[in-house]
Amino acid sequence: MSYIDEYKKSIETPEAFWAEKAEAVEWFKKPETILSKDDNGIHRWFADGEMNTAYLALDHHVNSGRGDQDALIFDSPVTNVKQRYTYTELRDAVAKFAGVLKSQGVEKGDRVVIYMPMIAEAVIAMLAVARLGAIHSVVFGGFAPQELAVRIDDAEPKVIVTASCGIEIAKVIEYKPLLDQAIEKSAHKPSSCIVFQREQAVASMIEGRDLDWATAVATAEPADCTPVKATDPLYILYTSGTTGKPKGVVRDNGGHAVALKYSMKAIYNMDPGDVFWAASDVGWVVGHSYIVYGPLLAGCTTVVYEGKPIRTPDAGAFWRVCAEYGAKALFAAPTAFRAIKKEDPDSELLKQYDLSKLETVFMAGERLDPPTYHWTKDTLGKPVIDHWWQTETGWAICGNLTGVETLEPKPGSSTVPVTGFNVQILDHEGNELPNGEQGNIVLKLPLPPSCLPTVWGDFERFRTGYLSEFPGYYSSGDGGYKDEDGYVFIMGRTDDVINVAGHRLSTGEMEEIVADHPAVAECAVIGINDPLKGQQPVGLVLLKNGVELEEAELEAELVAMVRKEIGAVACFKRAVVVQRLPKTRSGKILRKLLRQIADGKDYTVPSTIDDPASLPEIQEIMGRNGLVS
Ligand code: COA
Ligand code: AMP
Repeated sequence: MSYIDEYKKSIETPEAFWAEKAEAVEWFKKPETILSKDDNGIHRWFADGEMNTAYLALDHHVNSGRGDQDALIFDSPVTNVKQRYTYTELRDAVAKFAGVLKSQGVEKGDRVVIYMPMIAEAVIAMLAVARLGAIHSVVFGGFAPQELAVRIDDAEPKVIVTASCGIEIAKVIEYKPLLDQAIEKSAHKPSSCIVFQREQAVASMIEGRDLDWATAVATAEPADCTPVKATDPLYILYTSGTTGKPKGVVRDNGGHAVALKYSMKAIYNMDPGDVFWAASDVGWVVGHSYIVYGPLLAGCTTVVYEGKPIRTPDAGAFWRVCAEYGAKALFAAPTAFRAIKKEDPDSELLKQYDLSKLETVFMAGERLDPPTYHWTKDTLGKPVIDHWWQTETGWAICGNLTGVETLEPKPGSSTVPVTGFNVQILDHEGNELPNGEQGNIVLKLPLPPSCLPTVWGDFERFRTGYLSEFPGYYSSGDGGYKDEDGYVFIMGRTDDVINVAGHRLSTGEMEEIVADHPAVAECAVIGINDPLKGQQPVGLVLLKNGVELEEAELEAELVAMVRKEIGAVACFKRAVVVQRLPKTRSGKILRKLLRQIADGKDYTVPSTIDDPASLPEIQEIMGRNGLVS
């Protein structure tokens, strides 16, 4: 089958296309309704199908003879632990932990927050929640208590699962005190917390609320799989929007299972028994889809890696893991390869490892810049495939379908629309733009399976945030263009979301924190280019009249505030004082203009600007502070 035939079929006859793909899934009740609309008027897939995602990820394989194959390999260079779980062992561990959750009252539809480092127990906890038909919400370990508290209040979990600590290279990060602080801040209180104790830091427990993972598992009765409707939620994953409040992206069970299983072959060319390694974190969508669900739904072996691309112990870490486990595909963010390239530009460390089993490297999370593309491709002598996706979709929107037909890649492009995604480029009035012209990237409805049907508890936010700007289309928030061959080039966000080291962050949220400083009258936080992390946030700060403060002192205070409120992962390290911020006459800060100045791009002065003299002034300040590329 050629890519174009497969793609056309998915767009012209989506129901027939996805009905066929749904055959690959072992349903408890096979769906008869393939595509329908819910009460909100949103397209839903397989509405009358019944299944259980954890069953498909584990029991299905055990029942069909794959029980002795490795399902999960845990590799932790920071603790010197390596551990393997066969499908049978993982199924049993998940069933036991599901029993623990059940004993704590968790039932179908209940929420369970998971705040854990990259250990096998994080995956076990996710699958155990899914086994009960409950809904997990994993919160990335690099987020501070305040961020966790906001998510607890939104998801209202019955139970929270955590570990005593995570390890960041050599630093032990104690998770439990962060969780305790978060629960203190949140209005909603979970009825219990389950703590996986690690020897690097043993957590103190709160009597009557906290349970020790190992003790609870030792006496637990294994729990069976609870059937759910295809449209029932599997998880909520919070992602940064343009405001301070993160959006709870909802993922359903059925569409997700069908799309992910399909993607493992179509996009990644993975067959059952192959080893797939996504070097991400279970706190991000890549971790959900391609550390946990995708590889397991497809009967592959997944690698859970508690380490970094560098310094655990060196820049050969990725090559070591690929060689040791015979990974057929490696999936990581470009920033990881920029870090490796910086430490080992001539790839001396690569010589120690046999990467003959590695066929392809996939990258996503941020734009794959051509120098990083070429370096990785030339260094490894393997195809490097960029693919573009979002938390909202759960899988790639554009990519190169290596399991269908591999197209000639073009550096800077994430290749072509993936089956099911009708990708269009529109101008601000909603007119389709010709090839070569840059505009808003949108997806014509219906979206394919696995894409979000709502924002948790706030359908209106889903409608206004994604569906109302261009009726009949989903707005991706990314800008870009298609070339004459239909290749898609993603050029960056059109809103105030930035990508730092492949992590999606909201500058709006940082602005709210910076503006809270008593000396600050107003501020703008923008993303500037960073050679390692892609982008880096910078605060441009206007002081209140009469405030006298050392700039370095203010910067240090603001950096500490953002770190405390959002977490170290925000990487907010710079703030400079400015005299004026460029604004429209109605008082809106011209953030796009600030970004253009920071990028060293030519800009036209908008006719709506209130104070044109503010521009050369701010350009001079940004230049003097090394903020212009
Ligand atoms: N728990 C606690 N803290 C965390 C954390 C976690 N799970 N993840 C990151 N942090 C902390 C780091 O320790 C660091 O803290 P510091 O400011 O005290 O040093 C801070 O957050 C920033 O982390 P990071 O952006 O990862 O920077 P780094 O300098 O430690 O590492 C890279 C740089 C490039 C090696 C690293 O960013 C990387 O591996 N990036 C790839 C990201 C990725 O895979 N993203 C997934 C999307 S597909
Ligand atoms: P997240 O939801 O965290 O996966 O972040 C999604 C955002 O990351 C997208 O909207 C893009 O801005 C960016 N992104 C992800 N993958 C790519 C890619 N391959 N090329 C360019 N940008 C990307």
